[in-house]
Amino acid sequence: MNALDGKVAIITGGTQGLGGAYTEAFIRHGACVVIGDVRDEEGPDFAARLNATAGTVRVLYEHLDVTKAEEWSRIAGIAEARFGRLTTLVNNAGVPGRDGIEDTTEESWARTINVDLKGCWLGMKTCIPAMRRAGGGAIVNTSSTSGLVGTGRGAPYCSAKGGVVALTKTAAAQYGAENIRVNAVHPGLVDTPRNKNISDEWRREMLRGTPLGRMARPDEIANAVVFLASDASSFMTGSSLIVDGGMTAI
Ligand SMILES: NC(=O)c1ccc[n+]([C@@H]2O[C@H](COP(=O)([O-])OP(=O)(O)OC[C@H]3O[C@@H](n4cnc5c(N)ncnc54)[C@H](O)[C@@H]3O)[C@@H](O)[C@H]2O)c1
Repeated sequence: MNALDGKVAIITGGTQGLGGAYTEAFIRHGACVVIGDVRDEEGPDFAARLNATAGTVRVLYEHLDVTKAEEWSRIAGIAEARFGRLTTLVNNAGVPGRDGIEDTTEESWARTINVDLKGCWLGMKTCIPAMRRAGGGAIVNTSSTSGLVGTGRGAPYCSAKGGVVALTKTAAAQYGAENIRVNAVHPGLVDTPRNKNISDEWRREMLRGTPLGRMARPDEIANAVVFLASDASSFMTGSSLIVDGGMTAI
C-alpha cells in the first residue's frame, strides 16, 4: 500500500522547484496529479516524462494562473472528470517579494499578495466543494519560515506567508467536521530555481542561521508534504509543519 493510493491531487506551480518535487513524490506514492501552472512551454513535457516512466497517465498539465477564479473552476472540473474525484490540494505556487517596507511598490505588493495568499484562498474556495463530494480531503498550503519570523526584508512575502498561516487555521476550523484537513508547510531555504540568483551575502547569512548549515533539497520538503496529504497525518489540521534545518529554532 502506497501512502497516497487513491488520492487525486491538484498541485499548483507543480512543474519545477518544490512543486516539481511534490508532483514526482505524489506519483511515486500512488496519487494521480493535475498540475496547475503558468509554464505552458515546459509543463506538458514534464507531465509526459512522468507518465512515460509510470507507463500510464497519472499526471496532467493544465494552465492555471492561481489568481484567476475561472481558471480554478476549470482545473477542478478537469480533475474530477479525468480521475473521478478530487481529494487533495497543494497550494504551492508562489512568487518572491524581497523588498523591505519602504522599497516595496504597490505593484509588487499586489503581485505577491495575489499569487501567494489570494491564490491559496481561491484554490480552497474552488476545490473544497469537490472534496466534499469525495467524502473529505487534505489541503497543504505553502507558508515559509518568513510566515513565522521577521526577516527584515520581503515585506509583501512575509505578509502573504503569515496570512497563509491564519487562512490555514480558519479553514481547518471551518471544515474539520467535513473531514477536510488543512495544514501549512514552512520550508526554510531550499535549492530551487528561484534561489539560483540570490546574493552570496544573503545565502551566507541564511546558512549561518541554519543549524544544519545547508539548503534543503526539494525532496526533503516533499517528504513532509506527502505526509500532510496522506492518511498518516489523519489527526492533524490547522498545523504548521516546519522543515527548515532548524532556522526558526535559534
Ligand atoms: N525555495 C525556497 O527556499 C522556499 C522557502 C520557503 C517557501 N517557499 C515557497 O515554496 C513555493 C515554491 O517555491 P519554489 O522555490 O519551488 O519556487 P519556484 O519559483 O522555483 O517555482 C514556483 C512555481 O510557481 C509557479 N507560479 C508562479 N506564479 C504562478 C501563478 N500565478 N499561477 C500558477 N503558478 C504560478 C511558477 O511557474 C513555478 O512553477 C512558493 O510558494 C515559495 O514561496 C520556497
